[in-house]
Amino acid sequence: MNKILKINRKINSFKKTISVEGDKSLSIRWVLISSLSKRKSIAFNLLKSEDVISAINCIKALGSKIKFTKNKCEIIGNGLHFDIKKELVLNAGNSGTLGRLILGLLINSKKKIKLIGDKSLSKRDFSRVTVPLKKFGAKFRGSRNLPLEMKGIDDPKPIKYLEKKGSAQCKTTIMLAALKSNGLTTIKAKKSRDHTELMFKYLNIPIQIKRSNKKYDLIKIYGIKKVSPLNYKIPGDISSCSFFIVLTLLSENSELLIKNININPTRIGIIKILKMMGGSIKFLNKRSYKGEQISDIYIKSSKNLKGINCPIKYNSSAIDEFLVIFLVAAKSRGVSYFRDLSELNQKESPRLKWASKILNFMGIKNITTKSSIKIFGNPNLDLKKKIYIKNFSKDHRIFMMSVVAALTFGGQWKINDLDSIKTSFPKFLEILKKIEH
Ligand code: S3P
Repeated sequence: MNKILKINRKINSFKKTISVEGDKSLSIRWVLISSLSKRKSIAFNLLKSEDVISAINCIKALGSKIKFTKNKCEIIGNGLHFDIKKELVLNAGNSGTLGRLILGLLINSKKKIKLIGDKSLSKRDFSRVTVPLKKFGAKFRGSRNLPLEMKGIDDPKPIKYLEKKGSAQCKTTIMLAALKSNGLTTIKAKKSRDHTELMFKYLNIPIQIKRSNKKYDLIKIYGIKKVSPLNYKIPGDISSCSFFIVLTLLSENSELLIKNININPTRIGIIKILKMMGGSIKFLNKRSYKGEQISDIYIKSSKNLKGINCPIKYNSSAIDEFLVIFLVAAKSRGVSYFRDLSELNQKESPRLKWASKILNFMGIKNITTKSSIKIFGNPNLDLKKKIYIKNFSKDHRIFMMSVVAALTFGGQWKINDLDSIKTSFPKFLEILKKIEH
């Protein structure tokens, strides 16, 4: 059902402390990697969102045993080999991460598996993972879009692969398949989030990483026979925080402390970009956890924001946050320019196109191409008009970005598909209420 959210007023100033739900990338990886161990893995604060539930359902169908109570999830997996008796249909729902990564796990499944997903996922590109998986020896019917059918092989051949998109999903899919192959897989991968590398290292999986130059990493992984259990306390998701970070920066006289967030250097492009624009953001109480960096984040409303020419070196580490970054550009003095972002149109909806559309609704001049956007900021932006956001393929981040825009720029907004937040951040509106009252 299409639930609509109506917002007719700006948010009042606030001074609050919040926490957000568990990191989505870590949650999905924990579920999939735990399914490779025959012993019990336990996670606390696993994100309870539709994407993660889809991951749990997939590994359950593949034979893992799972107990998911309020704050604790336990998985006993089936080891590196599946014993699937019949052909299966796995549903990845809305999740590109799950849909792609699970194909890596299936590399040694001799039974045919059909992978399906929702309308948005069915439009997304899967050739980025089916191409390398074919090199391992997998066979596919259909290879670019879902639904597709995959048949793995008993003895996957290790491969050498060049990953040029900077896609962590693609890199991780290959890494998971490499675990099950017999020998050394080498991936030269354009830099992207490195959670899988850190989890593999923590589990003592034989992996070598050479930061070969500024753009690429060289990753070497040997196939293995056994995976140890992975106990994990999932920290908060910086992508979920991003909406509240921008809400605070753009609100008047406000302060926010967000506790216990994963600030892995491959994920904090948003912080670097917003600081360049003049945003007041600080990390407090930094610590390490199983290879990841954790911190509290303190944000203060920031006047005098300025437009920037965004360095492309931050693109991959801010890839899920650009929508809200564009809102900051809309309120900044001068022009902001973001380029080399064609990957943004490969997400749950074509996000660059959507950003342009929403900025147009807001009366913010922008020049948008297939891979770039130039935003002509207006520090005095104060909307009085009616804006209706609909038909955005239920993209959770478009929904949340629109809420932040409505609460900071004013106007009368109607935003469709409230349930889209269940994908990544089911408590978004509940936490927002806490900030407002
Ligand atoms: C993710 C990687 C990114 C990101 C997605 C989560 C991951 O996608 O956009 O939300 O967990 O590996 P790409 O790897 O395709 O850039």
